[in-house]
Amino acid sequence: MDKQKSIFNKNFYWGASTASHQVEGNTHNQWTEWELSVATQQAKKSKNTLKDLPIWDQIKSEAQDPKNYISGKGVDHYNQYELDISILKKLNLNSFRFGLEWSRVEPEEGVWDKAEWDHYKKYIQNLLDNNIEPFLNIWHWTLPVWFANKGGFSNRKNITYVNRFVSKVCEELQIDKLKYVITLNEPNVYASFGYLTGEWPPQIKNPFIAAVTYINLVKIHKNMYRILKKANPKLQIGVAAQLANIQAKRPHNFIDQSVTKIMRYGWNWWFLNRINKYQDFVGFNYYFTDYYKGLKSSNPSVPKNDLGWYMEPEGIYPLLLKVWRHYKKPIIITENGVADINDEHRRWWLEQTMVAMKRAISEGVDLRGYMHWSLLDNFEWAYGWWPKFGLVAVDRKNNMKRSVRSSALWWSEWLQNNK
Ligand code: BGC
Repeated sequence: MDKQKSIFNKNFYWGASTASHQVEGNTHNQWTEWELSVATQQAKKSKNTLKDLPIWDQIKSEAQDPKNYISGKGVDHYNQYELDISILKKLNLNSFRFGLEWSRVEPEEGVWDKAEWDHYKKYIQNLLDNNIEPFLNIWHWTLPVWFANKGGFSNRKNITYVNRFVSKVCEELQIDKLKYVITLNEPNVYASFGYLTGEWPPQIKNPFIAAVTYINLVKIHKNMYRILKKANPKLQIGVAAQLANIQAKRPHNFIDQSVTKIMRYGWNWWFLNRINKYQDFVGFNYYFTDYYKGLKSSNPSVPKNDLGWYMEPEGIYPLLLKVWRHYKKPIIITENGVADINDEHRRWWLEQTMVAMKRAISEGVDLRGYMHWSLLDNFEWAYGWWPKFGLVAVDRKNNMKRSVRSSALWWSEWLQNNK
């Protein structure tokens, strides 16, 4: 069969995404401490909170076990990264977003761990040796305990510690060999869950502190940008913003439309507008389409993923058009995927997403890359281990055995034929 000419440029970044705390294992940060303090309680309340999920019967023993809520050994990516990178390569992927764990390199205030810097140097070198483009992600929600104890990002005075950390990143890592750096992961999600709804550490429920934290994250990003650019002016720097495809349930209803506008501005654009002069590309994560009826989201009841999230993969298309229209900068999808223990939806999700991306490119959107979440099954924050997002399944009870899911095999074949 003749190969159809692909609309995706041959330099398109096809990749996968991970975060240090979710895969490495044996991290010690503010999240690790929080897990230990809430695991029993999370396990107890899981029956109430999760029993309506279609896969409840399948996951109930895991979800009711406190061990599920402890990141522990992770999926041992810290030690097995060479194997994981080789799997990534076999899957025909050419790029990888991974996290740097601040609590490893600066476990105590002002004390730097040389061996840990060396680890990340080797890690990056391994990606480069395999012709995989590294997308270094500097911060993905975890903080060294000493820094969290000082109030973390909610205290403006603490920004100086972040500046020092990023300067050190520039000194210690092969910053001249990197092309892409992502500064922050989903500032909106972090500020909301940590400081507004109080579901995540530090479990504060205070709109004022949430707003201050969000504002501080703008400043933090800008500082990171300046420091990184000074070290390597060629670096392409962005964030991984969480954008939702927010729509009015009743299209001509004044209330639904007004709520939609406010939500779009507050959730999607506020942060990106503020940092726009300090980003070379727009990076965004897409998981959700939300239809608003009044103040509440009112989504169709199917199809849903294992976490009960309504799935509309093609919702990435209107977002791509809007991001392009708003910012006129290259776009990289920094995360996108589904929790799917039985691998029922992942292939469909990927197919629909690629169709949506093709449509956007055909309309002139400068989309440069797509990173699937995630390469490996990983620790899904407050939900723990039961949600399975990996292209590659990891059996934590059987020596961390990696097995490539069928959807991933299908995707790698598609990539082979369409690159
Ligand atoms: C986060 C990931 C998370 C994924 C699935 C994203 O918002 O950046 O860390 O695992 O969503 O929930």
